[in-house]
Amino acid sequence: MKVGVLTGGGDCPGLNAVIRAVTLALCQADACTEVLGIQRGFWGLVEDRLQPLHAAAVRDLLDEGGTVLGTHNRADPFDWQGRDASAEALATVERHGIEALVVIGGDGSLTIAERFARLGLPIVGVPKTIDNDIADNERSFGFDSAVAVVADALTRLKTTAHSHGRVMVLETMGRNAGWIALEGGLAGGADAILLPEQPFHLDALTERLQRRVAEQGHALVCVAEGATLADGAQHWQQLGGVARLGGIGQALTHELDQRLGKQGTEVRATLLGHLQRGGAPTAFDRVLSTRFGVAAAQALRERAFGHTIALQGDRCVRVPLSAVAGRQRCVPPGHELLDCAAVVCA
Ligand code: F6P
Repeated sequence: MKVGVLTGGGDCPGLNAVIRAVTLALCQADACTEVLGIQRGFWGLVEDRLQPLHAAAVRDLLDEGGTVLGTHNRADPFDWQGRDASAEALATVERHGIEALVVIGGDGSLTIAERFARLGLPIVGVPKTIDNDIADNERSFGFDSAVAVVADALTRLKTTAHSHGRVMVLETMGRNAGWIALEGGLAGGADAILLPEQPFHLDALTERLQRRVAEQGHALVCVAEGATLADGAQHWQQLGGVARLGGIGQALTHELDQRLGKQGTEVRATLLGHLQRGGAPTAFDRVLSTRFGVAAAQALRERAFGHTIALQGDRCVRVPLSAVAGRQRCVPPGHELLDCAAVVCA
């Protein structure tokens, strides 16, 4: 069997661990299986950029951040520089005799994968994203590593916040899902956690921070890039000609500084940005990536195409790509972690 593997969308810690597990599982179970890495996601499929993957080349990849295959978060063959290049992608598959494809990606890549599956391409998906927002999947690899970075940042910000009696505002990634800010904020002891799913009132936030500064001498705010104000507004910025969520940390800091500065409390902003996506995966993510990679190889062997691997009830299961495509998993109302945040941030 000849299998192609690609990593699509934004990178995250654990991608290489999945590549390693899939390759080892396929090559060790059947010496005749050939694994081809497709470079830079669907871009490599359109432009025919492939590289062989074999056991010796991947064995050492467990703790390596990024992806050895490269990735791209704007490479959609169905919308390729203003035209449909899906036929070119399929021609690459045909030319190399690839019989099945493993797509390691987030909601965007899995949605593209689902379109190819509908055209008859045998595909198995693996859910990847630091945002933890893939439908029907309780945990994507990369998320735990991102949360660890947020928790560490808040822990560091606490000491300097305390020394200066300041309010520190930390902005996290996550797009329209608040998982990173929620878990990172809880793990880092934030005094306020602001999410896209729970609109916040500036007056109430100011009052809470004033109280915290009076009680403990400082305060920490963990704000998701997609956090929503009470009037429904989110903060957008133009980057590379594209509107992206972000910048709320700075804007909020400015606003809070106006309000709290009168009482002598300074406010400072930190933007964590891509630090959340860089570096080695945590132990949890190494294990989850390995589980997903082995489960994907098993699905390939059983020809369970048109599915993505997902974690449900701490078991790797198979979910139809059609059930996941175009959907996002945000923090649902009443989630246990929201209750925890309500208690500890009150
Ligand atoms: O989806 C993952 C993610 O890191 C988001 O949390 C963030 O908004 C976005 O990607 C950043 O993308 P880029 O790397 O293109 O700036």
